[in-house]
Amino acid sequence: MIERVPPARRGLSRRRFMLLTGGIGAAAVAAACGSGTTASTAVGPGAPAVTAAEQARRTGTGRTVPVALRARPDRIDLGGVVVDTWAYDGRVPGPEIRVRRGDVLGVDFANALPEESTVHWHGIALRNDMDGVPGLTQSAVRPGDAFRYEFTVPDAGTHWFHPHVGMQLDRGLYAPLIVEDPADGRDYDLESVLVLDDWLDGAAGTPDEQLETLRRDGMPGMGGMRGMDHGSMGGTGGMGTSGMGTGADPANPLGPDTGDVAYPHYLINGRTAVDPITVAGRPGLRIRLRIVNAAADTAFRFAVGGHRMTVTHSDGFPVEPLGADSVLIGMGERFDVTVTLGDGAFPIVASAEGKDGQALAVLRTGGGAAPGPDARPAELTTNPVTGAQLRAPADVRLPAREPDRIHDLVLGMEMSGYTWTINGATYADHIPLEISEGERVRLRFVNGTMMFHPMHVHGHTYQVVDSSGSGARKDTSLVLPGRTVEVDLDATNPGQWMVHCHNLYHGEAGMMTVLSYVG
Ligand code: C2O
Ligand code: CU
Repeated sequence: MIERVPPARRGLSRRRFMLLTGGIGAAAVAAACGSGTTASTAVGPGAPAVTAAEQARRTGTGRTVPVALRARPDRIDLGGVVVDTWAYDGRVPGPEIRVRRGDVLGVDFANALPEESTVHWHGIALRNDMDGVPGLTQSAVRPGDAFRYEFTVPDAGTHWFHPHVGMQLDRGLYAPLIVEDPADGRDYDLESVLVLDDWLDGAAGTPDEQLETLRRDGMPGMGGMRGMDHGSMGGTGGMGTSGMGTGADPANPLGPDTGDVAYPHYLINGRTAVDPITVAGRPGLRIRLRIVNAAADTAFRFAVGGHRMTVTHSDGFPVEPLGADSVLIGMGERFDVTVTLGDGAFPIVASAEGKDGQALAVLRTGGGAAPGPDARPAELTTNPVTGAQLRAPADVRLPAREPDRIHDLVLGMEMSGYTWTINGATYADHIPLEISEGERVRLRFVNGTMMFHPMHVHGHTYQVVDSSGSGARKDTSLVLPGRTVEVDLDATNPGQWMVHCHNLYHGEAGMMTVLSYVG
């Protein structure tokens, strides 16, 4: 059956929102999630199907990995900048969690923040009641309270975790979650995890204040308001000249409008370019770089000076190895690359795409002066590889199958205020996208705006639809201005799952909806 979903009808969805907010606890929330138009019932986080799916995954190592994680306000040194922010266990990024595929991860999360929080495990096909979305999969963890997250980790790869509450991700609350595969290490000697971020918290107000500013000034690019407030942002001046359907210009692959926020700092592993981390190695060795873009409003163009990279994975899953001088990484995306090390000291640069500024790390395998904070390796001027160019090797492709159901997600905005929508509705008014367990589901992200959106699906790793049937397996994809990206997934993980823009400001301003299993 092919089902097209019409744009949201506001009256109906508002009624649902009232039911949602009236619910007490996850089960009540889930029960209220069903469609108002059919007799189907939402499969909530507490449903037997969720437990059954988890049981089916418990075939792995039999090992449970215990982790204690505390979120709290802290003073953090970012390298030349000391900020008061919120962080996991006093570090930015938070402490890495590393498990093996098939392990059970057991995280005792303590919330010492002044606000409610949760932890979302980005990229993991986990049991729905551990997904960390307040009001959908669990009740938010109140200040001073704790919550135990416990779930099987079924897929290897470079993943990460962060809160799913308000603007908290744009503080220091993020960290890598690395899931090792028994085959790891066959084609490289060393590895290093690099987490990219855009930073303003404690240096230029707070993320909440930034969102208020955007709301007060209206939609960036509309009426020149952005130019007034963010005059220092290079290359992001509103509507630009090339209009809809941009993205073809190799110098501006995202189109002319590359962000809503001018950040004072950009970081690799919590350090500014002024006082960067050093990645050490020896000439001739192969290093695997696991790169996570944890930024809220910044895509990064990433390059290693003097080196050519081979992209080996995206969003945790293997891709057919592809040579690249630079890669473009959207918010929420991960790229793994390997590099054969030269001799000397080299800049690893994450350049804020279409903005002024960059993050830097130093790669050192020999003598020589370290690159300065403004080092601009020539590789940055190349046309960057994006997720759309990657292909899945045969063993990770979804079997060929026609979709049983198609949902369109039209990405939009409202002309006044700072409001981003999916199918004409903000999250408060969303109509769930219903699917049934066992279906092949196609999501079509139709970008009707002038800006790119990194769209993310929880709990599943889809395959990007292309003519060859070999698009990459991913969970986050750049949808360029005026373009459509189609992805297929197998509905094998019952529950209620967020689909949203991983531009945190867009998500918080409404660009989120729910992929809802019904039964
Ligand atoms: Cu990083 Cu809702 O996700
Ligand atoms: Cu967006």
